Amino acid sequence: MPQLALSGGNPIRTKPFPSWPIFGKPEEDAVLRAVRSGKWGKLDGSEVATFEKRFAAYCGVKHAIGVVNGTVSLRIALMAAGIEAGDEVIVPPYTFLATATAVVEANATPIFVDIDRETFNIDPKGIEAAITSRTRAIIPVHLGGLACDMDAIMAIAKKHNLTVIEDAAHAHGSEYKGRRAGSIGHLGSFSFQSSKNLCSGEGGMIVTNDDQLAQKCRSIHNCGRIPGGVWYEHHLMSGNYRMGELQGALLNAQVDRLDEQTNTRDANGKYLDEQLSQVPGITPQKRTKDATRNAYHLYCFRYDQNAWRIPRQKFIEAVNAEGIPAVAGYVVPLYRQPLFAQKNFGPYTGYKLHHADIDYGNMNLPNCEAICGGEGGWLLQNLLLGSRADMDDVVAAFRKVYEHREELRASDREAVGAAQ
Ligand SMILES: Cc1ncc(COP(=O)(O)O)c(C=O)c1O
Repeated sequence: MPQLALSGGNPIRTKPFPSWPIFGKPEEDAVLRAVRSGKWGKLDGSEVATFEKRFAAYCGVKHAIGVVNGTVSLRIALMAAGIEAGDEVIVPPYTFLATATAVVEANATPIFVDIDRETFNIDPKGIEAAITSRTRAIIPVHLGGLACDMDAIMAIAKKHNLTVIEDAAHAHGSEYKGRRAGSIGHLGSFSFQSSKNLCSGEGGMIVTNDDQLAQKCRSIHNCGRIPGGVWYEHHLMSGNYRMGELQGALLNAQVDRLDEQTNTRDANGKYLDEQLSQVPGITPQKRTKDATRNAYHLYCFRYDQNAWRIPRQKFIEAVNAEGIPAVAGYVVPLYRQPLFAQKNFGPYTGYKLHHADIDYGNMNLPNCEAICGGEGGWLLQNLLLGSRADMDDVVAAFRKVYEHREELRASDREAVGAAQ
């Protein structure tokens, strides 16, 4: 049996996976075009406006509004939906910070609802149970690109008259029953930050089919201006949250690559599902039949410590040494981040109206706890742009480490012994 790379053996691979972002002449030409136009702001140039139209068509919606990032897009969506002090907004705890802090910035109260252990996505049964007379909105996150159970979520929203804002920061081009992520809720929010499947360094987008919501979002992202108003005329609490033209230009080039890249990731993700589910103690994120395309911003899996009998961190170190850059992912549920545990909400004191006693630090949502605490693992999207042989290396590394688990266990015990 070949030696583990962690113990000095040869790694499964030394070649890097595809780097990110991928760019070339189209991006250089687009940015140069924007620079040479001398129109670098959204209100003067045509790059962002063009990209908004293209991205709206891509998502199958009427409106798209380009903003500075995917945190601000959530915040504007909440403001446009009329969320205000004391309102409750349901969010998952297994997501990036912004999903919940956008709610705090709307002066409302995030209510965390557990995820499904198999899909890593918010559990609609938990949503229904968490609804109160103050609930106003739900922000489902398509975690890693896997579409949430949108039929169930939209049915709950309809019954209780709630606004649904899809956080599609991981889900450019993901589909639910053939419909694009972001186009199913009342509003959808995207991020184009550097790591994202469609990126421009920084950037964000709000999408919607609702004319009134779109008009409000446009006004809020543009200092409260209204169509036909004069320059220094401001109607809504707002600011300058507009995307810049250089970002728009980059996105106009990057979006041409998106479908091919998404199809590659989707096919590789399906292949990894088949292969990794045969490795003992590894369970891929459950791909539901309604998730007709997965953008795989993250390839998520569950690691069963009982089957491997070594801690997740040791497994990650061993796989990394074999040349596979797997990571643990989120290791703390959002509600236990110091920000929430201590309610360090700065000037946003809206929660004190009705939720002064809310105790985030002592919450315990068991599925999120299990995944953060030791089960969760991710491969990042650029890895899924590799070839079939690259995917085989991932599988071979997982298998190799599994076969050496006893040796790793022994070395872990020695390390613990030496430290005592
Ligand atoms: C799920 C999720 N929502 C929102 C955001 C916020 O996007 P941005 O970093 O563009 O503000 C991110 C970004 O990492 C994210 O992963």
